[in-house]
Amino acid sequence: MSQTNLQGPSPHAEPGESPLRDLEAVVRSRTPLIAMESGEEPLIVNLARQICRRQQLKGYRWTITEGLVALSAEDQPTVSVTTSIEVLQFIHDSATRSIFLLLDFHPHLKDPIHVRHLKDIVLTAAERMITVIVAGLNLKMPDELQSFTVNFDLPLPTAEEVRGIVIDVAGEWGARHGQREVQTTNKAIDLLVRNLIGLSTMDVRRLVYKAINENGMISESDIPGLMKTKYELLGRDGVLTFEGDTASFAEVGGMRRLCKWLEVRKHYFLENDTGLLDPPRGILLLGVQGCGKSLMAKAAAGIFRVPLLRLDFGVLYNKYYGETERNLRKALSMAEAMAPCVLWLDEIEKGLGAQSDDDGLSRRILGTFLTWLAERKRAVFTVATANDIQILPPELVRKGRFDEIFFADLPQPATRESIFRIHFHKRSLDAGAFDLPALVAATEGFSGSEMEQAIVSAMYNAHAQGEKLAQQGLLAEIHATRPLSVVMAEKVEALRQWAIPRTVPCD
Ligand SMILES: Nc1ncnc2c1ncn2[C@@H]1O[C@H](COP(=O)(O)OP(=O)(O)OP(=O)(O)O)[C@@H](O)[C@H]1O
Ligand SMILES: [Mg+2]
Repeated sequence: MSQTNLQGPSPHAEPGESPLRDLEAVVRSRTPLIAMESGEEPLIVNLARQICRRQQLKGYRWTITEGLVALSAEDQPTVSVTTSIEVLQFIHDSATRSIFLLLDFHPHLKDPIHVRHLKDIVLTAAERMITVIVAGLNLKMPDELQSFTVNFDLPLPTAEEVRGIVIDVAGEWGARHGQREVQTTNKAIDLLVRNLIGLSTMDVRRLVYKAINENGMISESDIPGLMKTKYELLGRDGVLTFEGDTASFAEVGGMRRLCKWLEVRKHYFLENDTGLLDPPRGILLLGVQGCGKSLMAKAAAGIFRVPLLRLDFGVLYNKYYGETERNLRKALSMAEAMAPCVLWLDEIEKGLGAQSDDDGLSRRILGTFLTWLAERKRAVFTVATANDIQILPPELVRKGRFDEIFFADLPQPATRESIFRIHFHKRSLDAGAFDLPALVAATEGFSGSEMEQAIVSAMYNAHAQGEKLAQQGLLAEIHATRPLSVVMAEKVEALRQWAIPRTVPCD
């Protein structure tokens, strides 16, 4: 293992040049109100201070605990300005050529008196050269102020900047621990940097410190824990669920063609360093019920060894009634922030299929999703699964949306044998104790899920009689099962007839 010591200058005490330039341009355009949805207070204060210096403006910061404080000592107000109303009065009555930074202000934006005061300020702000910046998390500007407001997004640190922060934090940690050097490898640093993109400067610092502080090292084994924390930091809504440690998901019976397809593309998904090949973007997985679609979506994350994010359409539609599109957009940008990752859309026909009674909502959701599919920038591999092609919107199935449409058919004999082996192994049963060819022959037309269920119920029966599961008991359970391919023969057959000529078999 090659060892690298992290040393270098401290490039990130100051904000980057581009947010500074952009925010300065907004201030100079005489925008009266700027909304910044961000928790990065030190960075925002620093930006405001620099703009004040460059534009020869006075700068002030208001917080609930300290009241109004000038950013330079010489501008300190002569009277004490403490409450939120006092600060608005102060701005309205006496301020000129100034920037006011209001922190902790979001609760007041719901109050009509504060809103009225702000409106009075913005009406004369341009001529007095005043800019009010409201910053905080979960910021929502009231409708009355929207037309006066510019929303300014603080750009997240780039890969190069994240690398700088890692070096910085390692230096600080070393200084605090008797000049100890942080042990790491180039590969671990590269992985760390790649996985921290999408977080704010503050969060990157926090996570790097936490990773180093555990054992004085940055190693590849830090990554799964780090991804989990990253998800928690980003994931304050419930639309996406997260599975970080996916390596064990790779055990699937059959599906050889699909697994090979993924293996061949793994490098291009993770590195995308050739410039010649487009990185893989995603697949649509169609299939007979219980034939391993959901299993395969998880296995894809396992094969790529990246986290799995599952988008829950039920939560999207129900929990956030009236805010569905906004929340889908948030979830998709969170998936990008978590890149590299697999985004799993289970039973996509239920989420994006046309529903008659929703005022076009599902069409708008589909539109949002398709736009994202076409435009997303980062390594998010999308796996969508579906049972029913009939209610899938044609736009989604059109060539080019997904790299490929795969079909999970009822398992062939060789695959049924490996499914038996996998599930015996999972339950500590010895496959050698069974007549596998007989079991394989008896399960013609069964899905993997039905085979598993037969094993599970036969085990219950055996255990109830104080015995271990044996061939006879399992065969009896299999004979008692009426598989879906028999019970719903027409439906299963129709799906196969549609899919076989149009899609690629998984196996
Ligand atoms: N090829 C397979 N290899 C191993 N196990 C399998 C396979 N196919 C199905 N199974 C077993 O059946 C269970 C159910 O499969 P899974 O949920 O992936 O099917 P599905 O195609 O998503 O079904 P549905 O259409 O009902 O969502 C899996 O958790 C797994 O235990
Ligand atoms: Mg499923």
